[in-house]
Amino acid sequence: MTSAVPVDLTVQVGAVRLRNPILTASGTFGYGVEFAQLIDLNRLGGIVVKGLSREPMDGAPAPRLCETPSGMLNAVGLQNIGVRVFVAEKLPVLGKYDTAIVANVFGYCVEDYVEVIRVLEDADGLAAYELNVSCPNVKRGGMQFGGDPALVAEVVGAARKAAATRPLWVKLSPMVADIGLIARTAEAAGADALTVANTYPAMAIDPWTGKSLLGNQTGGLSGPSIKPITLRLVWEACKAIKIPVLGVGGIETVEDVLQYLAVGATAVQVGTASFTDPAVSQRLVEDLERALYRAKAFTLNEIRGKVFADFG
Ligand SMILES: Cc1cc2nc3c(=O)[nH]c(=O)nc-3n(C[C@H](O)[C@H](O)[C@H](O)COP(=O)(O)O)c2cc1C
Repeated sequence: MTSAVPVDLTVQVGAVRLRNPILTASGTFGYGVEFAQLIDLNRLGGIVVKGLSREPMDGAPAPRLCETPSGMLNAVGLQNIGVRVFVAEKLPVLGKYDTAIVANVFGYCVEDYVEVIRVLEDADGLAAYELNVSCPNVKRGGMQFGGDPALVAEVVGAARKAAATRPLWVKLSPMVADIGLIARTAEAAGADALTVANTYPAMAIDPWTGKSLLGNQTGGLSGPSIKPITLRLVWEACKAIKIPVLGVGGIETVEDVLQYLAVGATAVQVGTASFTDPAVSQRLVEDLERALYRAKAFTLNEIRGKVFADFG
């Protein structure tokens, strides 16, 4: 389906040109192919696939999801089919669609990240890598990569060397004392763009049993409840660096998208909202076209300029 509205939604995330600024967020849209019967994947700016590890992973014990006021908790435990099966089975199918495919990469030590990228480097059909640094570093006593500038510099630097052929996006953890410092560190270590941010560690307890509602005790909070917090992180990151930022956290409506663009994001990703409406990302593309048309703007830069004016 093509648009009846004559507006240009294309955006440039570094070297990657996207047909529009709406991508699906990692872990909330499978490997993309599962949604091909539900929406027109060609309409999306891009698809960030489920996090990929060196070897397949079974993930965390059930229950893995629970609803919270204005959001949800997940403890999926980064279950995935492993990078080699992804390359052999999913990537060829994704190649049929005209949208940017971004591989989300994670590991538990620097060598894990490098090995996943090494395998992906031999494959065709990817627009960029997105490094998930919200993972414990088992060689450093389980300390999260993303919370420590030295570890961010180390993992991003190593990934940069391994990613010879493609742009490297780095997805930051929101659990940091100074997002500007971490953002500048990732930029200096060679990141081409930043994704801000991942979920927030949280808990939900059954009041009558006193037990966790998740098999893994704790999980990651996502959805509308995190949007104001992540919006501020995106704003702080954009002020600190020159490379583009992709905003992700609680986006459900076109107003949410405009808010992220207003604080400086070049593009956005839609996560939890796809659980209640699998077609939400395609609808947001259409709503954004209409919003531009209504604002009598014909490119996103015009509307970004207008909203930026309010922020000085
Ligand atoms: C069920 C689930 C699985 C996720 N898996 C990943 C993952 O594998 N890698 C990653 O970087 N982020 C993962 N995320 C985080 C999302 O990509 C996104 O950053 C976060 O949910 C905030 O956006 P939202 O509020 O729109 O969901 C996951 C989120 C959810 C809800």
